[in-house]
Amino acid sequence: MLLRRGAEADIYLTTWYDKKAISKIRVSKKYRHKTLDDKIRKHRTIHEANMLSSAKIAGIRSPFLYFVDPFNGEIIMEYVNGMNAKDVITPRTCFKIGEYAALLHTHCIIHNDLTTSNFVVDNGELVLLDFGLSYHSARIEDQAVDIRLFKRIINSAHKSIYKVAFSHFIKGYSSIVGEKRMNRILENVIEIENRGRYTMIS
Ligand SMILES: Nc1ncnc2c1ncn2[C@@H]1O[C@H](COP(=O)(O)OP(=O)(O)O)[C@@H](O)[C@H]1O
Ligand SMILES: [Mg+2]
Repeated sequence: MLLRRGAEADIYLTTWYDKKAISKIRVSKKYRHKTLDDKIRKHRTIHEANMLSSAKIAGIRSPFLYFVDPFNGEIIMEYVNGMNAKDVITPRTCFKIGEYAALLHTHCIIHNDLTTSNFVVDNGELVLLDFGLSYHSARIEDQAVDIRLFKRIINSAHKSIYKVAFSHFIKGYSSIVGEKRMNRILENVIEIENRGRYTMIS
């Protein structure tokens, strides 16, 4: 059953040996040459599956991988039964998201799409989805971009709780990396924001 049609991939609810599962299939783009398109989809599928596994090593919960078919651009993974964080955002969830972001960053992973819709809350436990844009980096600027995106999302999609939500995110992040590192990254976030403002004016 088709759950969602995305720009890059379609999400299906399926089964894997009698278990509810999610199939994420990268669709081919007609405007790309077939050989190139196959190569891109294959590469991105393998990359996403690898990043999903790397996240586990960082100690965060992400869906279990059941099966990867690079030639079809398909990943079959655990279906996480829960509410999307977008719909059930709480200060506690934001604290946890902060912890997850810091754990990824200390393991040199940039998620690159830290929006509340990429988190599911399963029995109180947070699960991070969608490593389609993730990559490896230890650069503080890249970590700051991750935080900046989350900040923007809660400031637009969750405006009424923005202050509490962001302060809890920061608390969660600091609990892993310490305040000194946190402040360095926040300085970077402000720098990125100022750069954005400057670009808009000029
Ligand atoms: N393993 C999963 N378990 C439950 N829901 C999922 C799972 N993977 C994806 N989803 C649902 O499908 C949506 C889109 O999946 P996602 O991997 O984020 O694709 P996209 O790259 O299109 O954003 C998610 O926001 C979530 O609601
Ligand atoms: Mg997504």
